[in-house]
Amino acid sequence: MNLKGRSFLTLKDFTPEEITYLIDLAADLKAKKKQGITGNSLKGKNIALIFEKPSTRTRCSFTIGCIDEGGHPEYLGKDDIQLGYKESIEDTARVLGRMFDGIEFRGFKQEHAEMLAKYSGVPVWNGLTDDYHPTQILADCLTLKEQFGQLKGLKLVYVGDGRNNMANSLMIGATKLGIHFTNIAPKSLWPKEELIKLCEGYAKESGSKIEITDDLNAVEGADAIYTDVWCSMGEEDKAAERIALLQPYQVNKEMFAKTKKDSTIFLHCLPAVKGKEVTEDLFEQFADIIFDEAENRMHTIKAVMVATLGEQ
Ligand code: CP
Ligand code: NVA
Repeated sequence: MNLKGRSFLTLKDFTPEEITYLIDLAADLKAKKKQGITGNSLKGKNIALIFEKPSTRTRCSFTIGCIDEGGHPEYLGKDDIQLGYKESIEDTARVLGRMFDGIEFRGFKQEHAEMLAKYSGVPVWNGLTDDYHPTQILADCLTLKEQFGQLKGLKLVYVGDGRNNMANSLMIGATKLGIHFTNIAPKSLWPKEELIKLCEGYAKESGSKIEITDDLNAVEGADAIYTDVWCSMGEEDKAAERIALLQPYQVNKEMFAKTKKDSTIFLHCLPAVKGKEVTEDLFEQFADIIFDEAENRMHTIKAVMVATLGEQ
């Protein structure tokens, strides 16, 4: 599989085979790291890490993944550069493209990630935008694969803010990979019709089912229940409204009973607001898996950099 030179902006741009390749490469890199073996695939490569929004997992994953493979990461926080206010995205992109071999971008607008890729001429990796969080999905899928041995045919239920970056990207990833995807959210927080249509097409090709509903009974048969914060970064002013709207969608023991299954696991991209989207007892019950998922961010992000930029 040759992904050299490709940007990683949304999973829409990748085939099921390419996504599977990245997940399997991550599993391989993870096994090697556990044996103390790191690589040299990014030797001599300089990688810019642009963060308009804060981050623990994504920032650390790009930093450690890059250094493990012999590369040099450079953190560019929102107060360090003048992206989009004193200097245009196009100009910053052209400067960074002359100096760096790859660019990670975490920010607000998906369009800015796309512009960075267009004008820098080097691979750009989406570390989260308002619309998508594609690297997170690779970690989620690696975790599901570790738990269940395969992905095809699993039932993944996402509950909560059904139109945020996580819900959008999970819907794309799951339907491409043959995972049945159920999105349970109040109607006002359903994904855009255009994206649902697109994912219905992916589901048809992969043989998965897609369901968007406000009925909590749809958790029945779930292999995994997934949730995310009710207010994403940049939406802090919506807190009161969202809490009122989403309280019935909290992941808790009562919701788990509705799965009518004993083997259902819980996933969360983190950071979690315990007592809101998930109860503390439920979170702690699945802490081992949740923190495997967090660790898997590093192995999967490393895989993306190695595949698109590395000398393999
Ligand atoms: N899951 C995730 O993206 O975490 P960070 O915001 O800490 O990077
Ligand atoms: N939806 C969340 C994801 C955090 C990883 C946010 O955008 O803040």
